[in-house]
Amino acid sequence: MKVCVVGASGKLGQYMVRHALDRGYEVVGVCREKSVGKLDAFKGRITVVPGATDDREVIEKAVAGCDGVLTVLAPWGVHGYSTGTAQAVLDYAPKDARLVFSCGWHISKDGKDRYSFKLKLIVGLFGPIARLLRFVDINDQVEACRRVFASDTRWTVVRGSDLEEGESQGLPVWSRHVGDPILRSNITRRVDFALFMVEALENDELIHEAPAIVGCQTPSALAHAGAIGAQGNAGH
Ligand SMILES: NC(=O)c1ccc[n+]([C@@H]2O[C@H](COP(=O)([O-])OP(=O)(O)OC[C@H]3O[C@@H](n4cnc5c(N)ncnc54)[C@H](OP(=O)(O)O)[C@@H]3O)[C@@H](O)[C@H]2O)c1
Repeated sequence: MKVCVVGASGKLGQYMVRHALDRGYEVVGVCREKSVGKLDAFKGRITVVPGATDDREVIEKAVAGCDGVLTVLAPWGVHGYSTGTAQAVLDYAPKDARLVFSCGWHISKDGKDRYSFKLKLIVGLFGPIARLLRFVDINDQVEACRRVFASDTRWTVVRGSDLEEGESQGLPVWSRHVGDPILRSNITRRVDFALFMVEALENDELIHEAPAIVGCQTPSALAHAGAIGAQGNAGH
């Protein structure tokens, strides 16, 4: 399996590169020219295509012949960086490739997510301020995901909770809607977010899903597992 990691030099990207190599995949990484050095640990084991992730020529070259593309959607600046990145991947990835995109819980596929007051406040307050400072445009990630959802590709959009560093705890659990009790703990190890992204490449049940994830050892995930065990039942 040949996979491209778009945004390979970031924290999530580097973990994804590592998981992909652990699985024996051939890896191509895309990152900004100035960040190539962050991938030195993988020298000789991956191919690096330097450039902006919304540069269509860069993406066309990087995803050629790939069976899977893992894309970090980061809404930097106010010129549609995420949207440009997503669109280039949608346009140039081989037709049957598995496409897996990362984003946050604030993205909603069907409008049925139930958000906490805190998350609404963060998005409502931080969003406009960040855009005003021309630093981040949250709506850019919303538009990027809207285009992914509307595409006829084999996509999965993985929605991350709050993140923390630390050793892997195992594959996160997921649910279709933010607000579901299993997600209440709202914390995932970044290394495990990356694990979920990479595992999604070979999990066809996740095609056209936007799983909201949470760490499998968090209290809400464990409480859910206990309740399911007691009922002898499983599912999302
Ligand atoms: N942080 C959280 O708490 C959180 C929570 C939920 C979901 N997520 C999602 O997780 C994913 C990864 O987020 P992360 O916070 O962990 O960050 P990250 O993995 O460190 O990735 C940030 C990415 O953005 C790039 N980048 C940074 N500054 C840039 C700039 N000015 N212009 C263009 N690109 C720039 C980085 O590339 P360089 O290496 O070149 O700098 C890197 O590829 C995102 O999809 C995010 O929505 C994050």
